[in-house]
Amino acid sequence: MATLLLLPGDGIGPEVCAEVRRVAAVLTPDLTVKEKIYGGVSYDAHGTPLTDDTLNAALGADAVLMGAVGGPQWADAPRDKRPEAGLLALRKAMNVYANLRPAYCFEALADASSLKSELVSGLDLIFVRELVGGVYFGQPRGIEDLGDGQKRGFDTQTYTTAEIERAGRVAFELARGRRNKVHSAEKSNVMESGLLWKQVITDLHKREYADVELEHILADNCAMQLVRAPKQFDVIVTDNLFGDILSDAAAMLTGSLGMLPSAALGDPGKPGLYEPIHGSAPDIAGKGLANPLAAILSFEMALRWSLNRTAEADRLTAAVNAALNGGARTRDLGGALTTAQMGDAVLAAL
Ligand code: IPM
Ligand code: MG
Repeated sequence: MATLLLLPGDGIGPEVCAEVRRVAAVLTPDLTVKEKIYGGVSYDAHGTPLTDDTLNAALGADAVLMGAVGGPQWADAPRDKRPEAGLLALRKAMNVYANLRPAYCFEALADASSLKSELVSGLDLIFVRELVGGVYFGQPRGIEDLGDGQKRGFDTQTYTTAEIERAGRVAFELARGRRNKVHSAEKSNVMESGLLWKQVITDLHKREYADVELEHILADNCAMQLVRAPKQFDVIVTDNLFGDILSDAAAMLTGSLGMLPSAALGDPGKPGLYEPIHGSAPDIAGKGLANPLAAILSFEMALRWSLNRTAEADRLTAAVNAALNGGARTRDLGGALTTAQMGDAVLAAL
């Protein structure tokens, strides 16, 4: 039977993952749900944010669902042992190169956005963020001493043809099942890696995806367009760093960072890594205030993209919609429900 590995991690991670567990028990009782230690709590217990045992369990699962990693208490941990380093190592080891980050506006929440509701009502876009390359992993990197009281910090942005192509392919395939439009965002006006990005996407499009509408957009203009007229977008493919930044901006359009899931996918047949986009929110951790919907919707993506359970995924989407339409709101959405009460609302709708 299929296995879902939960990595609750730090901060609000355990609280929101507990709600995923409850939903899974009702929706997919035959699914084996396992759990492993990960993140800052793993560093405290084992001296590393990602133990071999946890990594092997992840590589052997059908899907991995992460809660959150990080918190101020690990700010002084050695750089390669910080919770975030564990996350990057996990993404790299699982080779989940295509990070799908949807930003859609639940109708009941159109008024919760910082933008006017007519700009976001009906919004449905998705990022394909390249996740295992670029400046996040490029070598060389470091901080060197220049000897005169000065230092020099440097990172390397690098992309190969193959890395760009596999991310591009995911975006074009995705667009075919949606509104058939891809924006490719880079800085080809300034960066060599951006120029190559644009050339490779152009060639791939001409060769294999000429039926899909393609538009190149400079990443800074993309940021501007996202807050000016976000509904013009369908699929946006971009590199690791631009994808990190642009997807946070897009997430906020939908009302709350507490609503948005993500899926990181590698080659077909390999386990996907599912994460709510929100962080560990240390300020509210352990208080039962966190919105579990991003985690629950990440489970929905796991059902759809890794576990082949489309019918259950559809049921879960409908249940979340029903809960919201029924007025269920955690604090981030202007309401007063606790984490578990929001879970109750989804379970009731199921
Ligand atoms: C994200 C996060 C991570 C990233 C951090 C926690 C390393 O911001 O998933 O967007 O930068 O990729
Ligand atoms: Mg981010």
